[in-house]
Amino acid sequence: MSPAKTVISVRSLNKVHQDLNELFVRHQIYLMRRDIEGALVILRELHEKYTLHIHDEEALLLPVYKQKVKPIPPGGAVEFYIQEHKKIKRMLDEFVGKVAGWHKKDTFTPLHLVRLFDLHYTFRDLLNHHHAREDTFLYRWLDRLLNTADIKAIFTKMEQIPDNIKSLI
Ligand SMILES: [Fe+2]
Ligand SMILES: [Fe+2]
Repeated sequence: MSPAKTVISVRSLNKVHQDLNELFVRHQIYLMRRDIEGALVILRELHEKYTLHIHDEEALLLPVYKQKVKPIPPGGAVEFYIQEHKKIKRMLDEFVGKVAGWHKKDTFTPLHLVRLFDLHYTFRDLLNHHHAREDTFLYRWLDRLLNTADIKAIFTKMEQIPDNIKSLI
């Protein structure tokens, strides 16, 4: 049997979400090992990659979605994505500030970790909610309305696309 053919779709961006989630878990593992320097390196990478992904969505997907999807379904309003992106960026900034501070002053304690993991729980919840909204509305509707050439044209301009899609662009 030949391997399944990879098809280009907006929903293939779910793999970017998956990669970002995995990076976050790696960051948590470094924290649990009390390797603050390693944790900070991963966290900065996550911050950078998430910022690029948000930029890709706001600059390249949401304008097309707004223009083509009429009427926009209630759960998929453009403002929801923008608000959630702001919250995600704010929380990532906060995490970088905390971890960089502990690293600089060498003040990290287990209690810090317990408190941070409470915030991580809220962050994971926000991400799960946000990723599900994108999969259900933004990505799915664009897949319905765009053809392969349209999607390729958008992906060519993106900062971040899944590795398995790169060869198809
Ligand atoms: Fe997003
Ligand atoms: Fe996304």
